[in-house]
Amino acid sequence: MSLFQKTSIGNLTVGNRFVRSATAEGLATARGFCSPVLTKLLVRLAKGGVGLIITGHTAVSREGMAASRQLCLWDDGFISALLDMTGQVHEAGGKILLQLGHAGALADANLTGEASVGPMMTRKKDGTICRAMSRDDIRETSQSFAAAAGRARKAGFDGVQIQAAHGYLLSTFLSPHSNRRRDEYGGNVANRARFLLEVIASVVSETGKDYPVLVKINASDFLPDGYGVDQMIETASLLALSGICAIELSGGIEGAVKYMPSRPGRIHTEKEGYYKAEAERLKEATDMPVILVGGIRSLETAADFIEDEVCDFIAMSRPFIREPELIHRWMTDNKKSSDCDSDNLCYRPIQAGKGFYCLTKARELQRSLLRQKDFKRG
Ligand SMILES: Cc1cc2nc3c(=O)[nH]c(=O)nc-3n(C[C@H](O)[C@H](O)[C@H](O)COP(=O)(O)O)c2cc1C
Repeated sequence: MSLFQKTSIGNLTVGNRFVRSATAEGLATARGFCSPVLTKLLVRLAKGGVGLIITGHTAVSREGMAASRQLCLWDDGFISALLDMTGQVHEAGGKILLQLGHAGALADANLTGEASVGPMMTRKKDGTICRAMSRDDIRETSQSFAAAAGRARKAGFDGVQIQAAHGYLLSTFLSPHSNRRRDEYGGNVANRARFLLEVIASVVSETGKDYPVLVKINASDFLPDGYGVDQMIETASLLALSGICAIELSGGIEGAVKYMPSRPGRIHTEKEGYYKAEAERLKEATDMPVILVGGIRSLETAADFIEDEVCDFIAMSRPFIREPELIHRWMTDNKKSSDCDSDNLCYRPIQAGKGFYCLTKARELQRSLLRQKDFKRG
């Protein structure tokens, strides 16, 4: 297997084995439409050599919104701007999936105007209540995922990825830490995976069996009494029968600093790949392609992981915020590792409503401009 050769995921041909892992850019319009600046960024990634781009999590329903300036797809009105974007990505030689998301308990009530929902009733840190979903809620939410997937197909996406990781709705059903339901959606692994499997079945029935559907799950959520590797392997064996064509393996929970999906702190080469060991177990247990994300920064590690069959695809998020042209650089002359410091300062501009960018790189540029000015003056 070579990193830079054409290959396929399901029936989708991609230019290489590099994936831009879903990254909520915070660059949609205030009403959730794809914007020219987001289109420009995604085209830049395609031109920069990423084989497969995955959008940030896109709200399948208003109640599932995680943040402002997030892409939304709960209405046909969102399709046209997305269709324009996917057309431009394809023209640039890229392939692009839409990540279908529902934030569950992590939904932002200021945006949704209603209580968030999850497997159980809980009181959130901000004092608001997260409501336990009824069977009707579950059925309706599966339908929202399916309808959004149908719209994604109409909008020209090459497939969809279902977000079932990181403490958002579907992952809270998978985790015994957050799911203590006593009905058919709680209890053993198969019951906790039931909602996800129903979502997949609805999506596949809406989009057709030929349309690539991927799932992102946690290797572990690192919570006491939480979801761990054995449960992930059992879930994967159920997913293998569900009609999806690949699993992306991630881990952690948003907000759990040490074990959040985007772990802070510079990564030494020998420590790259937070979930390497779990991916190896997953590869042994399934024939499905495995995409691995989390702390991969060097071409050397990426090549080793592919050669050693740790995974089939290499996904990265923060390195592409720092340098959208990273893959092109690696393919041509300069094989130096990503300069991403994993300091997570890229989240700050999003929180300020400006959309993501690498704040560290911006500061470096500013300092270098100031030095040049001083030099000329003096
Ligand atoms: C700004 C930002 C936004 C993210 N948004 C998403 C998202 O929408 N969906 C998702 O599944 N993961 C999201 N992630 C997590 C990444 O996809 C990835 O799993 C994580 O950052 C670890 O990979 P890395 O070390 O290459 O950054 C986001 C990460 C960052 C830094």
